[in-house]
Amino acid sequence: MLRFTRAFAALGLAALVTTGVAMSPDARAESWPTESECRSINDPSIEVKGWCTAINRRQGNCLGCHTIMVNPWPEGFPPGGNVAPPLVAMKQRFPDRDNLRARIYDATEFNKHSRMPPFGAHGILSDEQIDAIVAFLLTI
Ligand code: HEC
Repeated sequence: MLRFTRAFAALGLAALVTTGVAMSPDARAESWPTESECRSINDPSIEVKGWCTAINRRQGNCLGCHTIMVNPWPEGFPPGGNVAPPLVAMKQRFPDRDNLRARIYDATEFNKHSRMPPFGAHGILSDEQIDAIVAFLLTI
């Protein structure tokens, strides 16, 4: 019995190692969770927390206006809006993290007629939630 268990454990480990190798170097080969999947994730990373806050319709609801260019797009998940520019290549376009954060904190600082809600300045999202969104955006 014990030998059996060991053999299975070894097999499992081998499978893990193989998939791990097959998936690298793109650690993002797995898709981001959908809004309902977000609810059942225990102890998510800050990036996953940020994605979940961004797509949650009661929180960031960024998809109400923006498309978010993650690849692959979660299956069966509705696309974002076309009101605002797509959130794409954020890492390259926002080498200055504080600048990216400031745009989410209060977009009216950059365009006084912005249609984007001042998420931080109006307390729509907490500082922690905005930091998580920034961490997520800097992965794309
Ligand atoms: C009601 C619509 C709306 C919502 C909701 C919204 N945005 Fe925006 N966002 C805009 C518009 C419009 C712009 C274009 C710049 C402007 O007019 O201020 C923009 C610009 C941006 C920019 C600058 C983009 C660039 O390419 O220069 C970032 C970053 C951004 N939004 C992130 C977010 C995030 C993150 C969320 C969710 C927490 C969000 N937005 C929610 C409308 C929105």
